[in-house]
Amino acid sequence: MSLEFVKRMKKRPRRLRGSRNIRRMVRETSLSVDDLIYPIFVRYGEHIREEIPSMPGVFRFTLDELQGEIEEVKELGIPAVILFGIPEYKDDEATSAFEENGIVQEAIRIVKKTAPELFVITDVCMCQYTTLGHCGLVKDGKVLNDESLEVLAKIAVSHAKAGADMVAPSAMMDGQVGAIREALDKEGFTDIPIMGYSAKYASAFYGPFRDAAESAPQFGDRSTYQMDPPNWREAMREIELDIEEGADIVMVKPALPYLDIIARARERFDYPIAAYNVSGEYSLIKAAALKGWIDEKRVVLEVLTAIKRAGADLILTYFAKDVARWIG
Ligand code: PBG
Repeated sequence: MSLEFVKRMKKRPRRLRGSRNIRRMVRETSLSVDDLIYPIFVRYGEHIREEIPSMPGVFRFTLDELQGEIEEVKELGIPAVILFGIPEYKDDEATSAFEENGIVQEAIRIVKKTAPELFVITDVCMCQYTTLGHCGLVKDGKVLNDESLEVLAKIAVSHAKAGADMVAPSAMMDGQVGAIREALDKEGFTDIPIMGYSAKYASAFYGPFRDAAESAPQFGDRSTYQMDPPNWREAMREIELDIEEGADIVMVKPALPYLDIIARARERFDYPIAAYNVSGEYSLIKAAALKGWIDEKRVVLEVLTAIKRAGADLILTYFAKDVARWIG
């Protein structure tokens, strides 16, 4: 070798990549089953386990089919699930969201009976339960903020009464965390934490979820309440507000297109950060994997590791069961 630089070269990063074990030793980020939250869709009916067309491998379960799924989640060592319900009927007030025997409330009881230790989180929102499919009450074509808070608080309390371990408001109404905190405390649920969907963007990546949950808006879109994708400083304000209002965990959603938001939040806030690897992120990978275009396992582990590396402590992901099988 005649190049002078090569003769003087002392620093060689490749030394720390030479074998599997040295790579393990210097690895900076690790993905663990402990980090995972598994979303589950529940619906009415009997003996139905219905695959969501745009989300291969993800199902809507009737309540009698839920037990088997919960046992599997428990066996795999996944610590938490988040429940989404498809109600029997929709109305303008989201009544079916806060009934004592509503779909989510019943599902909570089944999960708790099947696996008492499994941590049950519930999504607190109105879009699946209202005729117009918006996350709040609507009047004259406008999504109302303050009037919606009362309903969201009622939903959260009904979940806590049914046995939920944590509630996660996702409606993006101003003040939703504070209103829910106050209502929970009033009812004696001072120990139930709140995970705020704090920086939730108006994203096209929710498409498959809306098929799954039958929650697409019937007019307009969600851009008057969900965040505008180009904004990051506003996300910091949203997170700060949720923390001030009493959020115990804050969330960034979606995850992959917003890794910068996760990283910035990690630097600023000493609170647990959750990231939602949403339906569209799942479907893109699944579709390419089914076509044989990518190695699904490697891509999924790379993506989830990236979300952790950005700074997330927790990841909500439809891949949770697969990941638990691969790394558990
Ligand atoms: C309800 C809610 C949505 C998601 C979680 N909670 C949909 C939406 O805001 O339209 C999306 C989850 C996903 O895409 O996986 N508001």
